[in-house]
Amino acid sequence: MSSFIDLVKTRRSVRTFDGNGVSPEVLEDLKIFAKEITNPYGAKSIRFEFLDREKNDLSSPVLSGEKCYVSAVCSKEDHVEEAYGYSFQKLLMKAHELGLGTVWIGGTMPRDKFETASDLAEGEFMPCMSPLGVTAKKMAIKETLMRKGVKADTRLKFEELFYVRDFSTPMNEQYAKENGLFDDLEAVRFAPSAVNKQPWRIVVDGKKAHFYEKHDKGFLTPDYDLQKIDLGIALYNFETQMTTELRDPVLTVEDPQISTPDDVDYIATYTI
Ligand SMILES: Cc1cc2nc3c(=O)[nH]c(=O)nc-3n(C[C@H](O)[C@H](O)[C@H](O)COP(=O)(O)O)c2cc1C
Repeated sequence: MSSFIDLVKTRRSVRTFDGNGVSPEVLEDLKIFAKEITNPYGAKSIRFEFLDREKNDLSSPVLSGEKCYVSAVCSKEDHVEEAYGYSFQKLLMKAHELGLGTVWIGGTMPRDKFETASDLAEGEFMPCMSPLGVTAKKMAIKETLMRKGVKADTRLKFEELFYVRDFSTPMNEQYAKENGLFDDLEAVRFAPSAVNKQPWRIVVDGKKAHFYEKHDKGFLTPDYDLQKIDLGIALYNFETQMTTELRDPVLTVEDPQISTPDDVDYIATYTI
C-alpha cells in the first residue's frame, strides 16, 4: 500500500477516462466508504450521491470517457464549506487509492442537471461533483489545454505559502525539514484547488499550525465560498499526513489574532 504522501503526489485531476466505467465491486467499496466519512467540525448535513451518465443524462464540457460521477450535497451550517472540502477530499483520495481518476468540478458542469440528479431538498446545495473512472492512456487535447491554462503542474513555493510565528517570516523547506513538518506541508502544497489558486496559508507557531484563506475574486456564491472548500481539502491532507506519522493533530477554531495581509482570513488551527 502506498503511503499517504505518495498518494498525494501521484494524484492529479483526471478529465479523460478510458470509457469502460467503474467495476461494480469498486463502486460498492466507495459507497460503503462514503457512508462512514466524518469531519472534525461535526458537520452533519454532507451526503454523497453516486450518479450515472446515461441514466441521469449527465456530462461536462471538460470531461470525456466518463460513465459515472459522485456529487456532494450539504446544507447551511457552521463551517460547512471546510467540512465539505475535508469530507469530499477523503472520498476522492480513497478513489485514487482504489485506482480511479477523479477531478473536483465546481464550475464546468451543467449545474441544474447535476442538482436535479442529486435530489436536492429545500435548503440543500451541491457545490461540487467529480467523475469516477479509469484514467485514459492519453489526455484529450481539451484536458492538456485546460492544465496549461491553470498551470496545473506548478505550485507556489514554500516561502509563498507557509510562515513561522507571523506573516513577516516566510518558512523555507529547510526549516520545515528540521522541524519535522516537511511532508505535512507538502501534502497541503500538492492539494488540488479551484483554478489552482492555492489559497491556503499556514503560520506555524510552536505546536500550533494556524490555517488561513487568501481570497481571490470570483469564488463567492450566495450559498458558499468555493475557496473555503479548498481550505477543507488542505486540512484533510495535513491531518491525514500527520496521522500517518503517528501524530495526533487536534483541530480548533480560535483566532490567534496574528496580523494578516490584505484579503487573508483565519480559518482554523491544528495543535500538532
Ligand atoms: C473546489 C475545486 C473546484 C474545481 N473546479 C473545477 C472545474 O470546475 N473544472 C475543472 O476542470 N477543474 C476544476 N478543479 C480542478 C483544478 O483546476 C485542479 O485541482 C488544479 O488545476 C490543480 O491541478 P491538479 O489537481 O491536477 O493538481 C477544481 C478543483 C477544486 C479543488
